[in-house]
Amino acid sequence: MNPSSNCDLSIVIPTYNEKDNIEALLDKIRNVLEKSGCNDYEIIVVDDNSPDGTADIVRKLGEKDDRIRLIVRTKERGLATAVKEGIKQSKKRFVVVMDADFQHPPELIPDLYESIQEGYDVVVASRYVRGGGVEGWSRLRLVASKTGCLIARMLVRGARKVRDNMSGFFIIRRDSIDLDRLKPKGYKILLEILGRHEGLKVREIPYTFKNRKAGKSKISTNTLVDFLIHVFNISEPLKFASVGLSGVIVNLGTMWLSLSLGLSKEISSLLGIELSILSNFTLHEKFTFKGRRDKKYGLPLRLLFYHASSSVSAVTTFTTMLVTSEYMGIHPLLGQFIGILLGFTANYLLSSRVIWLEQH
Ligand code: GDD
Ligand code: MN
Repeated sequence: MNPSSNCDLSIVIPTYNEKDNIEALLDKIRNVLEKSGCNDYEIIVVDDNSPDGTADIVRKLGEKDDRIRLIVRTKERGLATAVKEGIKQSKKRFVVVMDADFQHPPELIPDLYESIQEGYDVVVASRYVRGGGVEGWSRLRLVASKTGCLIARMLVRGARKVRDNMSGFFIIRRDSIDLDRLKPKGYKILLEILGRHEGLKVREIPYTFKNRKAGKSKISTNTLVDFLIHVFNISEPLKFASVGLSGVIVNLGTMWLSLSLGLSKEISSLLGIELSILSNFTLHEKFTFKGRRDKKYGLPLRLLFYHASSSVSAVTTFTTMLVTSEYMGIHPLLGQFIGILLGFTANYLLSSRVIWLEQH
């Protein structure tokens, strides 16, 4: 940051039982910022009523320096929701999010700030790009963390832009984010931001994740479960596939029922198909693509398109089954299965890129 720059920066720090870190951290941050010529900043500590008295320490510091603000939440707990609350209350154009335990080195803040000035919406401090790393982790923890990033990259489109999509250290341009879209759960606020805003311009800069200075990590086995639920909640393809699976049950169930009522197999098959299309459509509206706003096409058109797209996948399935069994000697059931996967892909692409397209 150049000395004359008006840095316009909020720093959001979630805390839970960080009494032995917080004062030193705030001192360090103030030092780093002032050394780089940044005066127009605020530091927002979001504490969930820590029993160790973290909030009292922050409150005292805030009495001497009004750039230090404290939010105490008594009814809610959780890292991600705390960060969301901090961002919501922030008043500056750019917001840095970081932990209170010195694992995220404050020295990197000016680099994050400079980097986002180059026209990005989000800059992530990353352990997994060249020059980055972790200090003192077991092999197991490293593999677990990288696997998590990989799963998220596979299943969440917005998360593909960065390697370290699980980072808790990043800077955002405040008005590039629509806070109402964020439904954070567990730890992974960055994943939530990237997953719910696909158009963001994002980059990574390397850093080394340090050892915790004092106190204990609050990570637990619940964190893993939370992560999996979280990925499911923001992964459109995964939601799309589970709706599709429910559709297969509706389809076959309806057909079985109609047959046992004595209807012809043609009528029963068509009833099964139509009912599953309708139930899939409803679930995609209310679940898979629920987060999409300002859709380009109205409901009647979406319903019509979805029928067309479903018939595309029906035809895909049927043709694949025929071709693979007739010409490649593949068992019809396996051919049907391959066809369902191809049909699913076709249907998903049409749904996500056309039917439920957002207007820009
Ligand atoms: N307000 C609030 N409420 N803060 C919390 C809570 C909570 O329920 N749980 C944890 N925190 C605060 C901690 O006090 C700390 O400042 C920060 O959130 C991170 O918590 P840790 O318990 O130290 O997490 P970690 O070191 O295992 O994981 C961190 O680093 C990972 C790698 O960058 C987190 O930032 C992860 O999100 C991140 O993936
Ligand atoms: Mn930590």
